[in-house]
Amino acid sequence: MGGRPRSTPSSPKVRPAATSQPRGHGGLAALTSEALSPETWPAFARLVEKHHGIFGGCWCISFHLGPDEGKRTPAQYRAMKEARVRDGQAHAALVFDGPDAVGWCQFGPTAELPNIKSRKAYDEGRGELPEWRVTCFFIDRERRGEGIANLALREALRAIARAGGGSVEAYPEDVAGRKVSRSFLWGGTLRMFEKEGFRKTRKIGLHRWVVVRQIPPARATRGPNGQLDRP
Ligand SMILES: CC(C)(COP(=O)(O)OP(=O)(O)OC[C@H]1O[C@@H](n2cnc3c(N)ncnc32)[C@H](O)[C@@H]1OP(=O)(O)O)[C@@H](O)C(=O)NCCC(=O)NCCS
Repeated sequence: MGGRPRSTPSSPKVRPAATSQPRGHGGLAALTSEALSPETWPAFARLVEKHHGIFGGCWCISFHLGPDEGKRTPAQYRAMKEARVRDGQAHAALVFDGPDAVGWCQFGPTAELPNIKSRKAYDEGRGELPEWRVTCFFIDRERRGEGIANLALREALRAIARAGGGSVEAYPEDVAGRKVSRSFLWGGTLRMFEKEGFRKTRKIGLHRWVVVRQIPPARATRGPNGQLDRP
């Protein structure tokens, strides 16, 4: 397995670089991004509660769980997720519209996200494990189709770069030429990742691919007074 990344991302508030045309509400340019953290937990929790716990109450916990961790109640999943966030063991790029979180891209060191779908096929052809995984997206159902998932992915990759970079894997669906319910696109689409420079390596499901990219570390820059600004 690749070594644990040098550091895990902190929680800078950044204004994402919008690359799509603004649509609806204030448009992408009005959105900001922050790391999932104890400070942003209440906004994350409000978004999950608005969607009744997501996926029957999973609270975005399933990719954190090992194979022997059995089924729990939504309240237990919520408590487990919150504990992880407080311990720095759960990462996501949250997208905000003002005070409201409107979506996220979950990522993290591979050891933090041991559980992936299509595990058997994944393990059969597996080489060295990546340092990072991007495992799940969720966007407010009232805000879909605005480019927020694309934006959340870019912010997650920036956070990985700030944390020292490394090899990143994801497991998106190829949707070319077919209609797919948004509910099944929690891993994102193949095109979303290819646009961000990921390369597909092998298929682990009918339409699911393993994609990889090496993210270089973000470089510190000089501020107006010559001081080193961390990225
Ligand atoms: C799938 C999802 C993340 C997309 O979010 P979004 O903000 O609407 O996506 P964007 O507007 O940024 O679009 C991203 C890309 O996905 C594509 N896309 C989105 N929904 C799609 C669909 N149903 N079929 C095919 N492509 C789709 C868009 O066309 C876009 O492609 P492009 O970048 O090549 O133009 C969102 O619909 C969602 O949250 N679904 C529920 C997922 C879920 O339940 N997650 C929790 C699981 S525990």
